[in-house]
Amino acid sequence: MGFDSLLLDCHLATMAGDGAYGEIRDGALGVRDGRIAWLGPASELTQDALENSAQVLRLNGVWVTPGLIDCHTHLVYADSRAGEFEMRLNGASYAEIARAGGGILNTVKAVREASPDELYVQSLKRARQMMLFGVTTLEIKSGYGLDLDNELKMLRVARRLGESLALKVCPTFLGAHALPPEYRDRPDDYISLVCSEMIPRIAELGLADTVDAFCEHIAFSREQTRRVFEAARAKGLKVKLHAEQLSDQKGAILAIEFGALSCDHLEYIGRDGIEALAGAKTVAVLLPGAFYFLGETQKPPVRALRDAGVPIAISTDCNPGSSPCTSPLLIMNMACVLFGLTPAEALAGFTSNAAKALGLQDELGTLEVGKKADMAIWDITAPAELSYGMGHNPCQMALKHGVVRG
Ligand code: NIG
Ligand code: FE
Repeated sequence: MGFDSLLLDCHLATMAGDGAYGEIRDGALGVRDGRIAWLGPASELTQDALENSAQVLRLNGVWVTPGLIDCHTHLVYADSRAGEFEMRLNGASYAEIARAGGGILNTVKAVREASPDELYVQSLKRARQMMLFGVTTLEIKSGYGLDLDNELKMLRVARRLGESLALKVCPTFLGAHALPPEYRDRPDDYISLVCSEMIPRIAELGLADTVDAFCEHIAFSREQTRRVFEAARAKGLKVKLHAEQLSDQKGAILAIEFGALSCDHLEYIGRDGIEALAGAKTVAVLLPGAFYFLGETQKPPVRALRDAGVPIAISTDCNPGSSPCTSPLLIMNMACVLFGLTPAEALAGFTSNAAKALGLQDELGTLEVGKKADMAIWDITAPAELSYGMGHNPCQMALKHGVVRG
């Protein structure tokens, strides 16, 4: 029996099985009903498969990887923050700008003023750029609305992106991202709004399956984060956390207590946080774009996380304030050069471990029989070239559920 699609004349970086990349050189891969039905050395393909597959893609010796998964983005936003970039280069810090009412709150103003269509059109451009880099799954957070209507507007835009593009979108509610101006000096009241109105409504509408928060001295405390997580748990939503980005708030330990999918940033995580991660299933998501763009000098403890066996994902953190980036490959390069990840770890960070960070590891993230046939095709001679290039894009095409994306 033939396949719906058969990929031939290619090398596979399966990101599963033996070796750093799970390489199968001179491989072939067959797709049936949108899923990987067979993969292996091309020499083991049956004559029947060769003769009776509906579509045969001869790939001229290029590399096939799982479609890239960007597991932490704030891709839905309006306007840029280039003005703040200039302020920072003239001496102001990210935290100072935030405390003076700028930063995230600037984007909140722009998002509140944008119509749903405007927000969609601006975000669509970024989603398309990501897709050109072989991204087939994208997490998108809300968190620039900070009131019910505007948070719903952002989440609906995220959903619309997933419906209109050959891209799986995983929406996350990040109501506890910053304190909106109308709640100035009343953070606990705002958290009450998040917990008693926003989370129940979003859960009821099915607009997000995960809840995130920003646990930081410029955002919310651990106790406030705990309330958010309790409200999420009460509605059956999963949790994840922006933790230890600027200081060690012990947020990761709290998140793990709630079975978080991931803890993200982690530059300032302490020994106790690493130990908690070591005993948990929670993924450490590192965001070298934000580290780089904010001129941070404290690196996340990659070696300790690795030694503790913590799965490490990486992500663009695409957002207007700390990482205006739509290139996963540039982020892979930064993860290697700035954080010391190996190129294989960097690719796992955008594939197998990114799938874990979204709880999608049974469906996505590796090339294995039974998984969804989401793949990226690269004009490279070795997988390490993905991390090696700076600002390049060797992506030739991507397949979503086995279908070549236009
Ligand atoms: O992941 N840390 C909080 N949130 C974003 C930044 C958002 C912004 O500055 O607009 C981050 O770095
Ligand atoms: Fe973020």
